[in-house]
Amino acid sequence: MSGRDLLAEASRRLDRLDARLIVAEASGRAFDQVDDPTWPDLTWSQVERARRMVRRRAEGWPLAYLLGHRGFWDMELGVDPRVLCPRPETELLLELSQRVPMADGAWALDVGTGSGALAIGLKRLHPNWQVAGSDRSQAALQVARANGRQWAPEVHWWWGDLLAPARGRGITPQLVVANLPYVAPGDRVDPAVRHEPACAVWGGADGLSPIRRLVAEAAGLLPAGGRLMLEVGAGQAERVLAHGRGLFHGEATVHPDLSGQGRVVVFCQGG
Ligand SMILES: C[S@@+](CC[C@H](N)C(=O)[O-])C[C@H]1O[C@@H](n2cnc3c(N)ncnc32)[C@H](O)[C@@H]1O
Repeated sequence: MSGRDLLAEASRRLDRLDARLIVAEASGRAFDQVDDPTWPDLTWSQVERARRMVRRRAEGWPLAYLLGHRGFWDMELGVDPRVLCPRPETELLLELSQRVPMADGAWALDVGTGSGALAIGLKRLHPNWQVAGSDRSQAALQVARANGRQWAPEVHWWWGDLLAPARGRGITPQLVVANLPYVAPGDRVDPAVRHEPACAVWGGADGLSPIRRLVAEAAGLLPAGGRLMLEVGAGQAERVLAHGRGLFHGEATVHPDLSGQGRVVVFCQGG
């Protein structure tokens, strides 16, 4: 079967971009060469692999799980159903990290690291910081470690709840970043989200229980001048600010995503 025929078949069930990405992945061809008529026909196993991926995509599976990778910042990270697929809005945390004044050797922690996206991104942007990614899912940490080996082998990977791994090691971080689960029952979510790990998505009755716990723990651990940067869901920033203002005594700011929604809350520890 030619790449062009397979692409036409896949495009009858999926949108054209997804169809092209799947045929490119299954055939090992570049995205823009999928339907190049000068290429030989695809093998039987390539066609079968593409059809399997098309079926699963049509059932609602996230495209990144089918392709096995997802672009984030300047990297292509391995992903599978053990971890949340990193989202573009999370890159805002990396952008904001570039405004943080930190001494060489100071610690930055990514709590709830999933695929390792933020921890690895932090280490690549700030090679002189010490960086650790932690998660309470051992399965997620296996994925993070594999990504770390490829993109930033110096990152440390710790298992445990919120800041317990840092406390257990006697480490006082200067920066904590986190994209914890924040979806509440009843929130509207993309149907593909039901294929992602529940522990990465659901944040309790109002979506904010892991975030509230982390704010309280970080307020007790960060030194003067230390920062906590949190990704929050659309519409949650004010509630998170109100909670953190009672615990942190420095500046607190909200940063919008490209659509103008406040999606990152930053607390600075007062002196
Ligand atoms: C929304 S995912 C984010 C993954 C990654 N940081 C990203 O932005 O793509 C949340 C992650 O937090 C982890 N997690 C949830 N509750 C946690 C807790 N109490 N302590 C540590 N990790 C937790 C989940 O296992 C999951 O990997």
